[in-house]
Amino acid sequence: MTAPRTEIFADPQDLALRAADWMAGVIAAAEVPFRMALSGGSTPRLLYAELSLRRIEWSKLRFYWIDERFVPPDHPDSNQRMARETLLNHIRVAPEQIHAMPTLTDPETAARAYEDGLKSAYGATELDPARPLFDLTLLGLGSDGHICSLLPGSPVLEERTRWVVPVQHGRPEVRLTLTYPAVESSRLTVFLVTGQDKAEVVKRVRQGDQSLPGGRLRPQGETVWLLDRAAASLL
Ligand code: 6PG
Repeated sequence: MTAPRTEIFADPQDLALRAADWMAGVIAAAEVPFRMALSGGSTPRLLYAELSLRRIEWSKLRFYWIDERFVPPDHPDSNQRMARETLLNHIRVAPEQIHAMPTLTDPETAARAYEDGLKSAYGATELDPARPLFDLTLLGLGSDGHICSLLPGSPVLEERTRWVVPVQHGRPEVRLTLTYPAVESSRLTVFLVTGQDKAEVVKRVRQGDQSLPGGRLRPQGETVWLLDRAAASLL
């Protein structure tokens, strides 16, 4: 595992601006298709808005999600809705390039359907360390050290076979999440973290604290940390 690269920015807006420029360059240099796994939550909103303003060959992109709240796509808590409002509705992208996690059946059926879709896109049912599933995986970090919807103490942290599972505990709503094998299968893993409330977990996750879901992540490719000064204040 290569040592993580870390960029620290003055504030969330500066981070979003510079990160969008950097990601536009990564995409420009990449092959087609460019499979990008999107995070939800609030942190990526500024980045997605900045990305929508960049001159990017959007036809290269295939958008996936790392997790989803099991709510209708138009629900205020939907990660799909957030990404559409901040990015996807503002760029030239065809519907077939967007692979949102389905939330209109039952969680188990939806998880298996999403996993089948990932395997179809990947062209195999087993992940090959030499051939990552994603080209770029964008991760937030919860103040409890969770990534995706891999929550502390959850049994899904131990899942090493399935790529997508439902999460029935730990949050008010059911979630769907990528498991460690799927989220680790990425050429580039980008942690996007801002705010003083994240400073402690940023420090502990980077130290590999195994009590935190983020600390257990072992990405296959390069890891980049994009932080504002507040989130980096304990480094
Ligand atoms: C979600 C995200 C989740 C998020 C962290 C950080 O569905 O909420 O995928 O993993 O990245 O909880 O959330 P904030 O960016 O809102 O702090």
